[in-house]
Amino acid sequence: MTHKKMWDGRFSGGIHELVLNYTESTAVDRCFYKQDIEGSKAHARMLAKQGVLSEADCGKIVQGLELVSAEIEQGTFVWRKDLEDVHMNVEQRLTELIGSAGEKLHTGRSRNDQVALDFRLYAAEKIDAWARSLLEIMRSLTKRAREHRQTLLPGYTHLQPAQPVTLAHHLLAYVQMFKRDFQRIEDCRKRVRVSPLGAAALAGTTYPLDPEYTAGLLGFEQVFANSMDAVSDRDFVLEGLFVAGVIMTHLSKFCEELILWANPLFGFVRLPDAFATGSSIMPQKKNPDVPELMRGKTGQVLGELYSLFTVLKGLPLSYNRDLQEDKPGFIRADGIVDGSLRIMSAMIQALEFDAEKMEQAMRSGFLNATELADYLVAKGLPFRRAHRITGRLVALAESKGLGLEDLSLEDMRWISDLVEADVFKALDYQAAVDRRRAPGGTGSDPVASQLQEIETWLCEKEASFSGGSV
Ligand code: ARG
Repeated sequence: MTHKKMWDGRFSGGIHELVLNYTESTAVDRCFYKQDIEGSKAHARMLAKQGVLSEADCGKIVQGLELVSAEIEQGTFVWRKDLEDVHMNVEQRLTELIGSAGEKLHTGRSRNDQVALDFRLYAAEKIDAWARSLLEIMRSLTKRAREHRQTLLPGYTHLQPAQPVTLAHHLLAYVQMFKRDFQRIEDCRKRVRVSPLGAAALAGTTYPLDPEYTAGLLGFEQVFANSMDAVSDRDFVLEGLFVAGVIMTHLSKFCEELILWANPLFGFVRLPDAFATGSSIMPQKKNPDVPELMRGKTGQVLGELYSLFTVLKGLPLSYNRDLQEDKPGFIRADGIVDGSLRIMSAMIQALEFDAEKMEQAMRSGFLNATELADYLVAKGLPFRRAHRITGRLVALAESKGLGLEDLSLEDMRWISDLVEADVFKALDYQAAVDRRRAPGGTGSDPVASQLQEIETWLCEKEASFSGGSV
C-alpha cells in the first residue's frame, strides 16, 4: 500500500508503507502540539503585521489553530501517521477547518525552522520545571539541615569513618550540588531561548519577515544569527541532556547514601513506608526500591546524552533527517529527571534520621584520632611524630575494645608523657566539630552562615520563579 503526501508535487507514486512507518514521527512529536500551535499563531501574526498575510486570513488562522488545539486536548483529533509529523497534522486539520487561508500559513517557513522552534519551546518549559523542582529539593534539604544542626555522624572518605560532622553539614553539601545544577539551567536557558523562526529551510527567506517580533510573541529573548546554523543547531538539547545527567548523578549519589544508611548495619535513616517496598518472600524486609530505581535510571539519562552526540557528530550542514532522532531521548530523559526530582523532594521531607545510631557509629570508629594528633602538635610535637604516636594509641584502644576517650590517662601517658588531663576535652566529639570554625567547615558557626546564605539565595530564586521564569 502507498500513501499520498502534502509535498508530493514532484512525486509520481505514493510512499511505501514500510518507509512511512520508518520515517514518520507523529507518535513522538505529537507531544509538541502546544508549541507547534503557539509557534504557528506567532508566525501568522507576524506575517499579517508585515503585510504578507491579510488580517482576515490571520484571524481565521489563529481561530482555526485554537479549534485544532481544543480538538487535541479533548481527544477528538485524529492523528494521521501518513501526514508524517505534528506539523503536517496540525496544518492539514487547520486547512480542513478554515479552507484556503490555512494553506497560507506556511509562507516563509519550513518544517526545518518550525521543528527547531517547537523543540526549543518544549525544552525551555521542561528545564524550567526541573529548576523549580530543584528549588523545592533545596528547600526541603535546608529545612532538614536546620533541624539537625546538632546531630553528629561520622563523615567518611573512602567510605571509611574519617572525622565527625554534623548532619546539617552533610545535607548542605547536597544543597550546593543542586544549586550548581540550578545555575547550569539558568545558563543553559539563555541558549535554549533563541528563536530559529525565519531561517526557513536553511538559507533564510525572500519574504520580509520579522523574526524579532515572533521571538517576542513567544517570550524568547534572542533570535538566530545564521539561518544554516539555526536549522541544524541542537547544542541546546545536548546542554539540556548534560544538565539532566548531572542532576541525575547528584540524585544517584544521594540515593546511594540512603541505601547504605537504610541498611541496618548503618541504621542512620528509616525510609518512610510510602517510599519503600516489602519483599514477597522475606517478611522482615523493607527495600529501598525508590532510591535504587533512581540510581538505576541515571544510566539511561547519561546514555541519551551520548546517543545525541553520536547523532550530531557526523552531520554536514544544514538540516538532515537524522535530527528527527534528537527528540525521543530528550523526552525520555525529561520523564526520568522530572519524576525523580519530584519524588526526591517528597521523600526528603519524610526521611526519619536516627541520631542515636549516627552517634553510636561515630563513637566506634576513632573519629577523634585527628584531634589527638593535633593535641600533641599543640604540645610541641612535629605532626608526623604526633601522627605515629596517635596511631599507637589507636592500636592500644582497639586491642582493649575501647574508644580513645575511654583510655585511662595512665595508659595514654605510658605511650606519650605529653598527654595530660586536658586531653579528654580534645577528644570530645562535639568539641572536634566546633573547632572547625573556618568558613565552609562543619563547625556550628560556618554551618549557620551556610544556612543563612542558602536561605537568602533560595528566597530570591523562589520569588523570581513566582513570576514564571528562572
Ligand atoms: N519530523 C521532522 C524532525 O523531527 C520535522 C522536520 C522535517 N523536515 C524535513 N525536511 N523533512 O526533524
